[in-house]
Amino acid sequence: MHQPKQEGAIRFLLDGQVHEVRGADPTRTLLEHLRGDLRRTGTKEGCAEGDCGSCTVLVGEPDGEGVAWRAVNSCIQFLPMLHGKALMTVESLSKDGALHPVQQAMVDRHGSQCGFCTPGIVMSLYAKAVAAKGADASPAEMLAGNLCRCTGYGPIIDVANGVQAEAPPAVDLSWVREEAMLDLTYEDPVHGVTRRWLAPRSVEDLASAFIEHPDATIVAGATDVGLWITKQRRPLKTLIDIGQVAELKRIETVEGGVWIGAGVRYVDALETLGGLYPELGAMMRRLGSAQVRNSGTIGGNIANGSPIGDMPPALIAAGATLVLNRGGERRQMPLEAFFLDYGRQDRRPGEFVEAVIAPTPRPGLVFKVFKLTKRFDQDISAVCGAFALTIEGGVVASARIAFGGMAGTPKRAGACEAALIGQPWSEATVEAAMAALDIDYTPMSDMRASAAYRSLTARNMLRKVFLESSSPGLLARVEPESAHG
Ligand SMILES: Cc1cc2nc3c(=O)[nH]c(=O)nc-3n(C[C@H](O)[C@H](O)[C@H](O)COP(=O)(O)OP(=O)(O)OC[C@H]3O[C@@H](n4cnc5c(N)ncnc54)[C@H](O)[C@@H]3O)c2cc1C
Ligand code: FES
Ligand code: FES
Repeated sequence: MHQPKQEGAIRFLLDGQVHEVRGADPTRTLLEHLRGDLRRTGTKEGCAEGDCGSCTVLVGEPDGEGVAWRAVNSCIQFLPMLHGKALMTVESLSKDGALHPVQQAMVDRHGSQCGFCTPGIVMSLYAKAVAAKGADASPAEMLAGNLCRCTGYGPIIDVANGVQAEAPPAVDLSWVREEAMLDLTYEDPVHGVTRRWLAPRSVEDLASAFIEHPDATIVAGATDVGLWITKQRRPLKTLIDIGQVAELKRIETVEGGVWIGAGVRYVDALETLGGLYPELGAMMRRLGSAQVRNSGTIGGNIANGSPIGDMPPALIAAGATLVLNRGGERRQMPLEAFFLDYGRQDRRPGEFVEAVIAPTPRPGLVFKVFKLTKRFDQDISAVCGAFALTIEGGVVASARIAFGGMAGTPKRAGACEAALIGQPWSEATVEAAMAALDIDYTPMSDMRASAAYRSLTARNMLRKVFLESSSPGLLARVEPESAHG
């Protein structure tokens, strides 16, 4: 049907029609393009950092023979990330002046007051109607990334409960398979800005591009990098987008575990990782919001080296292996070895994260994850603790424990593990192991929590592991449904 050719321009389908953008700064956000260039001002800017959801749009991309749609925050999507995809905004929904049923229900049920959040909420509800990725969640989970200051969520949840399924518009993205590597150069001599955007389509091309430009910033889901531009105005010169590399989106069973490509987004990893480790799945459903889970990648969460990233502690406790690639040369390491110090990872210039291998859990493994935040959903952890224990004949046979938020990196609790292994799985052992956490960690105080609170809650997480594992049926934590009331 459509047969556009790539010649240094960004091309995507907007309401089914080919839309071409030339000469744009590659770090221009999709939201800026919609509002500033196209005057599609239905999509709103609230926070410009992925929190409020007022900028929610639907992006479709090839998925096997079909197209998978997902709700994303347009404020932290760079325009070239849309290349080869399809886009729908709130303007796409009402036809000939008639409101879409979701919009009409928002009117009928008084789901809108000032209306600022409404287009974003409508797009999240439309995502549910067309069975977009991650939209099979409960309304509360689905709408956690859409903040409303006026209405109260009751009427909006009522609308969500009544959303009727419908087919998404048919779009043809088959031409995307023929596309070459996107290579954009942007020069603004007036402001002295030169920028390059490369979007390789294979691991091999990515490896060569990164060797050639070792100072480039890799962009995966841009749920971190997007904020470097919108909030910090960092002058990034060369950006390499890994989102077009299909091989990096592979989830595959390998010997002893599952290979998760670095470009796999949270929402796409949830079923597999949650299948292996149900508590990890439960934690992932609280990580960010639906929009963040639809964009953010497992590889980005590891590569950014954040001490408060949620995936590393759980994957370290599970015994995951990291796969790095530099110019086609691969090396593997235990995930914990990657994190050297605050802001420093074991990654050489030109080397990128290719995958993480999550091992298949041994039968009988006790695996627990606790994400401690001020809000249940859409909040960064103050402390994240993960525990993998085997108990044989009442004795702790093995223990892998890791925490986020307790040190400058995600870090294993070696002293605590040593205090457990070989000891009876008893209250006395657990008390001793809780005390050993003071050897492992000297946490800091910041806006999320004080050092004392972090130490206390980390200890208590281990106590909860003991209580839950020794009293089956007991859940020593808030359950999702009660949290939402
Ligand atoms: C509203 C909001 C809520 C959030 N909530 C949470 C939360 O609850 N828990 C949590 O842990 N995080 C949270 N985050 C942070 C963010 O979602 C994660 O860190 C995310 O996993 C980053 O992945 P990404 O694909 O978006 O990475 P990007 O932003 O594209 O990149 C992040 C960093 O990793 C580098 N990078 C990415 N991929 C690779 C690779 N394959 N090889 C080498 N380097 C690479 C980039 O250069 C950059 O330095 C939140 C973010 C937002 C905006
Ligand atoms: S403007 Fe708030 S999430 Fe995009
Ligand atoms: S109606 Fe005003 S912010 Fe939601």
